[in-house]
Amino acid sequence: MKISPSLLAADYACLKDSIAKVEPLVDMLHLDVMDGNFVPNISFGPCVIEAIRPHSKLFFDVHLMIERPERYIEVFRRAGADGITIHVESTENPAEVLKAIRALGAKPAISISPDTEVEAIFPLLPLCDMVLVMTVYPGFGGQKLIPRCLDKVKALKAEIARLGLDIPVEADGGIGNANLAEVLDAGVDVVVAGSAVFGAADPSAAVAQMREIEKTLKA
Ligand code: DX5
Ligand code: ZN
Repeated sequence: MKISPSLLAADYACLKDSIAKVEPLVDMLHLDVMDGNFVPNISFGPCVIEAIRPHSKLFFDVHLMIERPERYIEVFRRAGADGITIHVESTENPAEVLKAIRALGAKPAISISPDTEVEAIFPLLPLCDMVLVMTVYPGFGGQKLIPRCLDKVKALKAEIARLGLDIPVEADGGIGNANLAEVLDAGVDVVVAGSAVFGAADPSAAVAQMREIEKTLKA
């Protein structure tokens, strides 16, 4: 299991310190960008990513919940994004946007919202380095995981294997210690956790506990 904690749930007055707390224990840093248009919430944009970039060596996993992301991929790449995830629902031609992300030297990923059929992203898989399955409606942290979304993970794993590809599946929304077993059981490779990590009194202990749960499952 890879862990990509979402900074959305962190204290915005001291992002640098929040990152430092988890930096040695996690695999990526999940950065949720919301435009108040694709989703009914506004978070942060490239300036914040650029500001934290010198303070972390982590892979910046930038999740764009914005309408027509093609307008901004270059800006986010320049700000320090290592991976750029776009929503299949957010643009006319996701294939072209994924190719453009790769051309910028970043790792492209496609994301799918709860009401979109999983088959919609099957043709895009060969263009991706990761797939992000939303397990809540995008827009807010702290929501409850929608269990039926995990069926998409299983379907994606099967399709990825059928195509002979090697692409990790990331799940995002409502994941914490109480349902981590269920999430890993569905085949999720990369776990995003916002409130469960940065909302915890001790974020590093929260991550350590997630690793413990994974260990007991394997045993
Ligand atoms: C929701 C975001 C998620 C969210 C996760 O739109 O994409 O990354 O912040 O937060 P939790 O773990 O609190 O659901
Ligand atoms: Zn996200």
